[in-house]
This record gives sequence, structure tokens and C-alpha cells, in this order.
Amino acid sequence: MNAGVVRAGGKVILFGEHGVVYGRPALAAGLATGARATAEPAAGPRLSVEPWGVSVEPVERELHSDAGKAPVPTAQLAQAFGAIVAAYERAPLLHVRVAMELPSGAGLGGSAALSVAIVRAFDAGLGIARMDSEVARIALEAERVFHGNPSGVDTAMAAAGGVAVYRKGQPLEPVRVGRPLQLVVGHSGEPGMTKETVASVARQHAQRPDKVDQIFAGMEAIVNNAKRAIEDGELDKLGQLMELNQKLLVTLVLSTPRLEDMCTAAVKAGALGAKLTGGGGGGCMIALASDAASAEQVKAALEALGRAAFVTEVAG
Ligand code: PMV
Repeated sequence: MNAGVVRAGGKVILFGEHGVVYGRPALAAGLATGARATAEPAAGPRLSVEPWGVSVEPVERELHSDAGKAPVPTAQLAQAFGAIVAAYERAPLLHVRVAMELPSGAGLGGSAALSVAIVRAFDAGLGIARMDSEVARIALEAERVFHGNPSGVDTAMAAAGGVAVYRKGQPLEPVRVGRPLQLVVGHSGEPGMTKETVASVARQHAQRPDKVDQIFAGMEAIVNNAKRAIEDGELDKLGQLMELNQKLLVTLVLSTPRLEDMCTAAVKAGALGAKLTGGGGGGCMIALASDAASAEQVKAALEALGRAAFVTEVAG
């Protein structure tokens, strides 16, 4: 058995979140951090996740005593694990231990990284080789437990990384990065509520389909323009597109006063543009800086608001 460590990355959605649930494209960038996992022989499938301090068997519904400390409810974790186990012909007799490097509920694809890492750990333990797209397909079954109606962008990015355009049901389209992007990721400290915000957009779509489709058409145009701007290294244009994308997200009531304050502070500190990233309703925002020094200033401005922030370079 291969007892090595497997990995899966988180992601930031640069453009097009929510529209992607309705078949529109989204542009995302993989993060170097995410989840690490190992597998060892066991009497039956088991999953332990640190630093959450939880350990579950598949589809186990009973809460463990330490469940209160877990950011993801233990029963949900057990069901998500069960969804992955069900994808194997015989339940793998392996104990998967995952170390999470990203917070969950931040809009950074933590749960997708977790799901992809579990599939990879099982596969490594069983000696199975699979394409990234197939790993992502299995992990998506777990994401459905976490997120309700996920587009699949998180699991696709967790499996493949890089910078890519994603459209539901289609293979990732890698994007060449003309000039490395200095991104600042800031956490609002409010839990992201992807499941709730996706449901809220669905209600808005049911009530005013024309209006919401028009907003998504606008987001699609932004994604197409952003792809070209990334390829051509046009950072100013990319920043403007982030501002535009944020305005559209605001019309769908996906931002919060805190995220708005953070975006405003980032631009004031020199960012070329800023927007929420992921599900919204809390979670994280991203800002594009012109260079590494400016990124540090933007990060400092977010920290001055009392928010956690980090800088990441997207080089494709
Ligand atoms: O909050 P996250 O990182 O799970 O991102 C959600 C992205 C959405 O487009 C809002 C939903 C989805 O499934 O694509």
C-alpha cells in the first residue's frame, strides 16, 4: 500500500460565482494550501479530520462529544464521507487522516479540498490511478452533502489547480497567465453561507428569471473579458472587471457591510479592484494589487480593520 501524503488545493473564484450554478462560466485560481491526507489499513472505512478533532465512519449520524468544536457538523461530515465510500465497489478498509490547511466556510473551497483529498488517499491506498476529472466527479458527491447544489467548480479546481474557466459539466479550460497576479485574500470573520446564498439566488431567479438571467449574462461577459485580460497581463482592466463583478453580486444581495468595508479599504490602499469571492453572505473577499509591495499595503489595510488576510501569487 502507498502510505504517502496526498494533497488537494483550495481555490478562489476570481469571477463568475453564482452564475456558474446556472451554467455560466466562472474563472478560478487554485491555492497552494488546501488539505493533506494519508491512508492506513483499518477494519473499515474511517475518516479523521484535524484540526477539527473529529473522527467518523461513513453515514454515521450520531454526534461525537467533540462535535461542538467542528466547523462542519459531524453528521454532515459522516454523510459526505459515506457518499465517497459509496463510489467504491467495495468499502475501502482504510483510515483516512486529513489535515485541513484552510478554514471551512470561508469561500476558499476547503470542503472540496477535503473531499478530493479523501478520494486521493483512498486511491493511493488501493493503488488506483484516476484522471483529475474523475477524482473531482467522486468528490462532487460529497460536496452535494456540504453545499446542496454545487456547480462543481470547487472540486474541479481542488483536483486540478492552476487558473481555469469552469462551466458546469464541462472539462476545465486552463488559462495562461500573462503576468503573475498578486492577490490579497481577506476573511470577513463572518462565516460564509454558500448553501443559504445559493438558495437565496434560486428564490430570486424563480421570482424574476429575466432580471437574474440578465445579471448572469453580465457576469459571463465579465468572465470572457477577464480571461483575455489575464492572458494579456492587463492588470488595470482586470481590477475594473472585479469592481463590475462586485456590483452585480451586490444587486443579488450577496455582499455584507463588512465585505463592502473591506473592498473599499483595499481599493483605498491601492488595490486595482476588489470583490467578494465564493458564496458570499460572509466569508472572504479578494483584492488585486499591482505588485508585491502594494499587496502588502492592501493586506495591512485589511488587518487594520481587524480582519485576517494573506497574499497569494497566481502564476498559472
Ligand atoms: O463558497 P464556495 O467557495 O463554496 O464557492 C461557492 C461558489 C458558488 O458559485 C456560489 C456556488 C457553486 O457551487 O459554484
